[in-house]
Amino acid sequence: MSYAIVGFGKIGQALAHAFARNNINVTVASRRPPEALAPQARAVGPTVVAKSLRDALEADTIILAIPFGEHREVAKSLPSWKGKTVIDATNSFPLPPEELGGLPSSTFIAKSFTGAKVVKGFNHLGAATLASDPVVEGGHRVIFLSSDDEDAIAPVAELAKRLGFAPVTLGKLNEGGLLVHARGRVWGPLIFQDLFKKQQ
Ligand SMILES: NC(=O)c1ccc[n+]([C@@H]2O[C@H](COP(=O)([O-])OP(=O)(O)OC[C@H]3O[C@@H](n4cnc5c(N)ncnc54)[C@H](OP(=O)(O)O)[C@@H]3O)[C@@H](O)[C@H]2O)c1
Repeated sequence: MSYAIVGFGKIGQALAHAFARNNINVTVASRRPPEALAPQARAVGPTVVAKSLRDALEADTIILAIPFGEHREVAKSLPSWKGKTVIDATNSFPLPPEELGGLPSSTFIAKSFTGAKVVKGFNHLGAATLASDPVVEGGHRVIFLSSDDEDAIAPVAELAKRLGFAPVTLGKLNEGGLLVHARGRVWGPLIFQDLFKKQQ
Protein backbone atom coordinates (compact mmCIF):
# COMPACT_ATOMS: atom_id res chain seq x y z
CA MET A 1 0.00 0.00 0.00
CA SER A 2 1.20 3.53 -0.74
CA TYR A 3 -0.31 6.56 0.94
CA ALA A 4 -0.68 10.25 0.14
CA ILE A 5 -2.27 13.10 2.02
CA VAL A 6 -3.71 15.86 -0.17
CA GLY A 7 -3.88 19.06 1.84
CA PHE A 8 -1.09 19.88 4.28
CA GLY A 9 -2.91 22.24 6.61
CA LYS A 10 -4.09 21.44 10.13
CA ILE A 11 -5.59 18.01 9.37
CA GLY A 12 -3.01 17.02 6.76
CA GLN A 13 -0.20 17.77 9.18
CA ALA A 14 -2.00 16.05 12.05
CA LEU A 15 -2.26 12.88 9.95
CA ALA A 16 1.32 13.23 8.77
CA HIS A 17 2.40 13.20 12.43
CA ALA A 18 0.56 9.91 12.90
CA PHE A 19 2.37 8.40 9.88
CA ALA A 20 5.73 9.71 11.10
CA ARG A 21 5.15 8.45 14.64
CA ASN A 22 4.62 4.96 13.26
CA ASN A 23 7.39 5.07 10.67
CA ILE A 24 5.00 4.73 7.72
CA ASN A 25 5.90 6.40 4.43
CA VAL A 26 3.47 9.02 3.18
CA THR A 27 3.63 11.71 0.54
CA VAL A 28 2.01 15.08 1.13
CA ALA A 29 0.83 17.60 -1.44
CA SER A 30 -1.21 20.73 -1.85
CA ARG A 31 -1.60 23.42 -4.52
CA ARG A 32 1.81 24.76 -3.54
CA PRO A 33 4.95 23.22 -5.08
CA PRO A 34 6.72 20.46 -3.11
CA GLU A 35 9.68 22.77 -2.36
CA ALA A 36 7.30 25.00 -0.39
CA LEU A 37 6.00 22.09 1.70
CA ALA A 38 9.31 20.24 2.10
CA PRO A 39 10.70 22.04 5.21
CA GLN A 40 7.44 21.47 7.10
CA ALA A 41 7.25 17.87 5.89
CA ARG A 42 10.85 17.20 6.98
CA ALA A 43 10.07 18.74 10.36
CA VAL A 44 7.25 16.24 10.88
CA GLY A 45 9.51 13.27 10.23
CA PRO A 46 11.69 11.44 7.71
CA THR A 47 8.84 9.25 6.40
CA VAL A 48 6.88 12.34 5.29
CA VAL A 49 7.84 13.48 1.79
CA ALA A 50 6.42 16.46 -0.09
CA LYS A 51 5.60 15.87 -3.76
CA SER A 52 3.65 17.61 -6.46
CA LEU A 53 -0.07 16.86 -6.44
CA ARG A 54 0.29 14.88 -9.66
CA ASP A 55 3.08 12.70 -8.22
CA ALA A 56 1.31 12.26 -4.87
CA LEU A 57 -1.77 10.97 -6.67
CA GLU A 58 0.24 7.95 -7.82
CA ALA A 59 -0.36 6.49 -4.35
CA ASP A 60 -3.08 3.88 -4.17
CA THR A 61 -4.64 5.33 -1.01
CA ILE A 62 -5.23 9.07 -0.90
CA ILE A 63 -6.46 10.97 2.13
CA LEU A 64 -8.40 14.16 1.39
CA ALA A 65 -7.48 16.82 3.96
CA ILE A 66 -8.69 19.81 1.95
CA PRO A 67 -11.58 22.23 2.38
CA PHE A 68 -14.75 20.44 1.24
CA GLY A 69 -15.34 22.91 -1.59
CA GLU A 70 -11.98 21.99 -3.19
CA HIS A 71 -12.76 18.32 -3.80
CA ARG A 72 -13.74 18.82 -7.45
CA GLU A 73 -10.43 20.54 -8.17
CA VAL A 74 -8.52 17.57 -6.78
CA ALA A 75 -10.79 15.06 -8.54
CA LYS A 76 -10.06 16.73 -11.87
CA SER A 77 -6.35 15.97 -11.47
CA LEU A 78 -6.79 12.36 -12.58
CA PRO A 79 -8.74 11.18 -15.63
CA SER A 80 -9.86 8.08 -13.72
CA TRP A 81 -9.78 7.13 -10.06
CA LYS A 82 -10.23 3.43 -10.77
CA GLY A 83 -8.10 1.34 -8.42
CA LYS A 84 -7.70 4.18 -5.90
CA THR A 85 -9.05 4.36 -2.38
CA VAL A 86 -9.97 7.87 -1.28
CA ILE A 87 -10.23 8.44 2.46
CA ASP A 88 -12.46 11.44 2.94
CA ALA A 89 -11.39 13.30 6.09
CA THR A 90 -13.28 16.44 5.10
CA ASN A 91 -16.36 17.91 6.69
CA SER A 92 -18.84 19.85 4.59
CA PHE A 93 -18.86 22.50 7.33
CA PRO A 94 -20.42 25.06 7.11
CA LEU A 95 -22.61 23.98 4.16
CA PRO A 96 -26.12 22.96 5.17
CA PRO A 97 -27.18 19.43 4.04
CA GLU A 98 -29.69 20.98 1.56
CA GLU A 99 -26.76 22.27 -0.51
CA LEU A 100 -25.59 18.69 -0.94
CA GLY A 101 -28.98 17.61 -2.27
CA GLY A 102 -29.61 15.87 1.03
CA LEU A 103 -26.72 13.45 0.37
CA PRO A 104 -24.13 12.48 2.98
CA SER A 105 -21.09 14.64 2.21
CA SER A 106 -18.89 11.66 1.26
CA THR A 107 -21.55 10.39 -1.17
CA PHE A 108 -21.52 13.88 -2.70
CA ILE A 109 -17.72 13.79 -2.93
CA ALA A 110 -17.71 10.25 -4.37
CA LYS A 111 -19.64 11.50 -7.41
CA SER A 112 -16.54 13.48 -8.48
CA PHE A 113 -14.01 10.68 -7.84
CA THR A 114 -15.32 8.38 -10.53
CA GLY A 115 -14.20 4.79 -10.01
CA ALA A 116 -12.60 5.36 -6.59
CA LYS A 117 -13.56 3.53 -3.45
CA VAL A 118 -14.45 6.26 -0.98
CA VAL A 119 -14.15 5.70 2.75
CA LYS A 120 -15.25 8.37 5.22
CA GLY A 121 -12.90 8.56 8.18
CA PHE A 122 -10.56 10.59 10.39
CA ASN A 123 -13.04 13.51 10.20
CA HIS A 124 -14.49 13.67 13.69
CA LEU A 125 -11.46 14.69 15.76
CA GLY A 126 -10.13 18.23 16.04
CA ALA A 127 -6.70 18.65 14.44
CA ALA A 128 -4.78 18.95 17.72
CA THR A 129 -6.31 15.74 19.05
CA LEU A 130 -5.76 13.94 15.75
CA ALA A 131 -2.10 15.00 15.82
CA SER A 132 -1.48 13.67 19.31
CA ASP A 133 -0.60 10.08 20.17
CA PRO A 134 -3.89 8.13 19.99
CA VAL A 135 -2.72 5.68 22.65
CA VAL A 136 -4.17 7.30 25.74
CA GLU A 137 -4.04 5.76 29.22
CA GLY A 138 -3.65 2.31 27.71
CA GLY A 139 -6.60 2.75 25.35
CA HIS A 140 -6.70 3.63 21.66
CA ARG A 141 -8.56 6.67 20.40
CA VAL A 142 -11.43 5.68 18.13
CA ILE A 143 -11.72 6.43 14.42
CA PHE A 144 -15.05 5.92 12.68
CA LEU A 145 -15.10 4.46 9.17
CA SER A 146 -17.96 4.18 6.71
CA SER A 147 -18.16 3.33 3.02
CA ASP A 148 -20.50 2.04 0.36
CA ASP A 149 -17.64 -0.24 -0.79
CA GLU A 150 -17.57 -2.92 1.85
CA ASP A 151 -14.19 -4.31 0.79
CA ALA A 152 -12.60 -0.85 1.00
CA ILE A 153 -13.07 -0.52 4.75
CA ALA A 154 -10.78 -3.38 5.88
CA PRO A 155 -7.52 -1.94 4.46
CA VAL A 156 -8.36 1.51 5.86
CA ALA A 157 -9.16 -0.05 9.23
CA GLU A 158 -5.77 -1.78 9.04
CA LEU A 159 -4.09 1.56 8.34
CA ALA A 160 -5.96 3.16 11.27
CA LYS A 161 -4.67 0.39 13.53
CA ARG A 162 -1.10 0.85 12.27
CA LEU A 163 -1.48 4.55 13.10
CA GLY A 164 -2.49 3.59 16.64
CA PHE A 165 -6.24 4.16 16.42
CA ALA A 166 -9.10 1.78 17.18
CA PRO A 167 -11.25 1.71 14.03
CA VAL A 168 -15.02 1.43 14.45
CA THR A 169 -16.91 0.51 11.30
CA LEU A 170 -20.26 2.26 10.93
CA GLY A 171 -21.39 0.61 7.67
CA LYS A 172 -22.65 2.43 4.62
CA LEU A 173 -22.44 6.19 4.17
CA ASN A 174 -26.19 6.73 4.30
CA GLU A 175 -26.64 4.37 7.22
CA GLY A 176 -24.23 4.37 10.19
CA GLY A 177 -21.99 6.78 8.30
CA LEU A 178 -24.55 9.54 8.77
CA LEU A 179 -23.68 9.55 12.47
CA VAL A 180 -20.39 11.31 11.73
CA HIS A 181 -21.38 13.54 8.82
CA ALA A 182 -21.31 17.27 9.31
CA ARG A 183 -24.61 19.03 9.63
CA GLY A 184 -24.35 22.77 9.29
CA ARG A 185 -21.93 24.06 11.87
CA VAL A 186 -21.37 20.80 13.75
CA TRP A 187 -20.18 17.34 12.86
CA GLY A 188 -20.84 14.04 14.49
CA PRO A 189 -23.99 15.46 16.14
CA LEU A 190 -25.71 12.11 16.37
CA ILE A 191 -22.81 10.17 17.77
CA PHE A 192 -22.15 12.91 20.28
CA GLN A 193 -25.74 13.91 21.01
CA ASP A 194 -25.61 12.72 24.60
CA LEU A 195 -22.40 14.67 25.15
CA PHE A 196 -23.94 17.79 23.58
CA LYS A 197 -27.03 17.47 25.78
CA LYS A 198 -24.86 17.21 28.89
CA GLN A 199 -22.94 20.35 27.88
CA GLN A 200 -26.09 22.41 27.30
N1 LIG B 1 -9.28 21.66 11.53
C1 LIG B 1 -9.93 20.70 12.17
O1 LIG B 1 -9.87 20.59 13.40
C2 LIG B 1 -10.76 19.70 11.37
C3 LIG B 1 -11.30 18.60 12.05
C4 LIG B 1 -11.96 17.61 11.31
C5 LIG B 1 -12.09 17.74 9.92
N2 LIG B 1 -11.60 18.85 9.31
C6 LIG B 1 -11.77 18.94 7.85
O2 LIG B 1 -10.50 18.68 7.24
C7 LIG B 1 -10.39 19.43 6.03
C8 LIG B 1 -9.10 20.25 6.10
O3 LIG B 1 -9.22 21.16 7.18
P1 LIG B 1 -7.95 21.93 7.75
O4 LIG B 1 -8.37 22.53 9.02
O5 LIG B 1 -6.75 21.05 7.69
O6 LIG B 1 -7.80 23.09 6.65
P2 LIG B 1 -6.54 24.01 6.35
O7 LIG B 1 -5.66 24.08 7.56
O8 LIG B 1 -7.06 25.24 5.74
O9 LIG B 1 -5.73 23.16 5.24
C9 LIG B 1 -6.26 22.94 3.98
C10 LIG B 1 -5.15 22.42 3.09
O10 LIG B 1 -5.72 22.09 1.81
C11 LIG B 1 -4.82 22.57 0.78
N3 LIG B 1 -5.65 22.77 -0.40
C12 LIG B 1 -6.67 23.65 -0.59
N4 LIG B 1 -7.20 23.50 -1.82
C13 LIG B 1 -6.49 22.52 -2.43
C14 LIG B 1 -6.53 21.93 -3.72
N5 LIG B 1 -7.44 22.30 -4.63
N6 LIG B 1 -5.64 20.95 -4.01
C15 LIG B 1 -4.70 20.56 -3.09
N7 LIG B 1 -4.61 21.08 -1.86
C16 LIG B 1 -5.49 22.06 -1.52
C17 LIG B 1 -4.22 23.84 1.38
O11 LIG B 1 -2.93 24.11 0.90
P3 LIG B 1 -2.59 25.10 -0.32
O12 LIG B 1 -3.24 26.41 -0.01
O13 LIG B 1 -1.11 25.10 -0.34
O14 LIG B 1 -3.18 24.43 -1.53
C18 LIG B 1 -4.03 23.40 2.84
O15 LIG B 1 -2.82 22.70 2.98
C19 LIG B 1 -11.66 20.29 5.92
O16 LIG B 1 -12.56 19.67 5.07
C20 LIG B 1 -12.19 20.32 7.35
O17 LIG B 1 -13.60 20.48 7.40
C21 LIG B 1 -10.92 19.83 9.98
